[in-house]
Amino acid sequence: MDLSRPRCRHWRELVLLASLLACGTRQAYSQISIDPESLLGIKGFRTVLVLQNVTQDVQEYSWHRGANDTAENMIVSYKPPSDTWQSGPMFSGRENVTRTGSLVIRRSALNDTGNYTARVDFGNRTEKATGCLSIQELEKKPDISANASSVVEYMDPVAAICYTNATNVNWYVDYTRVSSNDRMTISPDLKTLIIHRVSRYDRTLQCETESIPEFPRRSEPLSLSVDYGPDKVQLRTSHIILNGILSAKIGSEVHMECNAISRPSPKYHWTHNGSLVSLSGAKIILPSLAWEQMGRYRCIVENPMTQLTMYREFQIQVHRSEHSHVVNRGFYISGAKVVWLIVITVLSSVYLCGILIYILISHFSTRRQRGT
Ligand SMILES: *[C@@H]1O[C@H](CO)[C@@H](O)[C@H](O)[C@H]1NC(C)=O
Ligand SMILES: *[C@@H]1O[C@H](CO)[C@@H](O)[C@H](O)[C@H]1NC(C)=O
Ligand SMILES: *[C@@H]1O[C@H](CO)[C@@H](O)[C@H](O)[C@H]1NC(C)=O
Ligand SMILES: *[C@@H]1O[C@H](CO)[C@@H](O)[C@H](O)[C@H]1NC(C)=O
Ligand SMILES: *[C@@H]1O[C@H](CO)[C@@H](O)[C@H](O)[C@H]1NC(C)=O
Ligand SMILES: *[C@@H]1O[C@H](CO)[C@@H](O)[C@H](O)[C@H]1NC(C)=O
Ligand SMILES: *[C@@H]1O[C@H](CO)[C@@H](O)[C@H](O)[C@H]1NC(C)=O
Ligand SMILES: *[C@@H]1O[C@H](CO)[C@@H](O)[C@H](O)[C@H]1NC(C)=O
Ligand SMILES: *[C@@H]1O[C@H](CO)[C@@H](O)[C@H](O)[C@H]1NC(C)=O
Repeated sequence: MDLSRPRCRHWRELVLLASLLACGTRQAYSQISIDPESLLGIKGFRTVLVLQNVTQDVQEYSWHRGANDTAENMIVSYKPPSDTWQSGPMFSGRENVTRTGSLVIRRSALNDTGNYTARVDFGNRTEKATGCLSIQELEKKPDISANASSVVEYMDPVAAICYTNATNVNWYVDYTRVSSNDRMTISPDLKTLIIHRVSRYDRTLQCETESIPEFPRRSEPLSLSVDYGPDKVQLRTSHIILNGILSAKIGSEVHMECNAISRPSPKYHWTHNGSLVSLSGAKIILPSLAWEQMGRYRCIVENPMTQLTMYREFQIQVHRSEHSHVVNRGFYISGAKVVWLIVITVLSSVYLCGILIYILISHFSTRRQRGT
């Protein structure tokens, strides 16, 4: 611990006190106060000591180093009536007062830690407030390591360690904050994350510490190489496969290609009627389909890292042209033909009715003739 450097109470205590007490100094018989939450600064950043409960008609705001408001320890002052600033003996070149009376310190240094006193002159009375500012150094980013960098999805566990002395640690997987769940466990001291079965989306691991509120420090992302698949094996063919059957004409060109989602890229093989097709990759081209090229084709996809193999298969059959012609064309009549068909049906019905009536009339007239 650096004892030469002045120390303040930790901001938390200050905020908890949230009273007129700051660093043991009473902001007694004063209405003005320094916002306790503004009494924490980060080295290298801007710090603003916020003055609260300032009423109207201010003649002068002045800020002083230390616990009292003498001219010798004045840093800077501001007179609202004349809108003028004046620096004092303790001015370092980085301070200023805002028009609402707050003290701004640019590029805060660790030795800016200490008491600050604000004095507000209301003309017929003055008010004072003292607060103890603490400038802290942002701790460095935590380091992270894992016991494996190349793993197989749903098979391998991975354990990551966050190197920090912080007590609050957050974990991020693929840039999303995680907590213990059925797939991963965070140790009680929060410094270890174990993913029991990694998934392909567990691409990066990070841990984060937050020693200073609102200033979290996150480790560099640690990349995981996760092997997975093959998944979603798909066939792409020049002809449609229906119910596992690809119909093609003898002599036609047939393409068949297999693809799958896999990391690393899988190995592809084809078999025809059960025997391995030599020199086959993901794709087979049959430039002119021959009779002996009919039969059963199977595409085999293999991931050597996950040791998983998947396949898809289909049959190539001869395309029966006449048969499929009928199937393809179906029964089809044009609109004009429909009209004609209706006209003819109506006319023939009328004709048939006429014949029927004629037969009936002639039948009855014959009976009547017989009866008379
Ligand atoms: C400052 O003002 C707030 C309301 O704005 C009040 O609640 C608080 O008590 C005041 N503090 C002091 C020290 O006067
Ligand atoms: C300034 O404050 C110190 C205590 O912090 C005290 O000993 C000293 O007498 C004060 N000086 C003046 C001029 O008020
Ligand atoms: C403070 O800032 C004002 C502008 O906002 C500037 O005019 C003034 O000179 C500054 N005072 C000091 C002491 O730097
Ligand atoms: C504070 O530290 C800086 C270096 O970080 C130094 O230049 C400066 O003189 C120091 N100020 C005091 C008052 O010790
Ligand atoms: C701030 O002032 C208080 C009271 O005068 C004193 O007890 C404390 O040690 C001072 N803090 C620093 C860092 O000088
Ligand atoms: C002087 O003080 C009284 C209360 O004590 C206040 O009402 C008045 O506004 C003050 N005048 C100035 C100029 O600040
Ligand atoms: C990594 O740690 C986990 C959990 O402790 C363990 O199950 C796994 O076997 C370890 N992996 C390697 C490669 O050591
Ligand atoms: C944690 O604290 C110990 C002892 O104070 C120190 O040796 C170590 O470097 C610290 N580790 C980190 C990551 O800050
Ligand atoms: C494969 O089987 C089909 C019948 O299922 C047959 O027509 C074809 O000739 C066979 N081809 C080879 C090379 O075995």
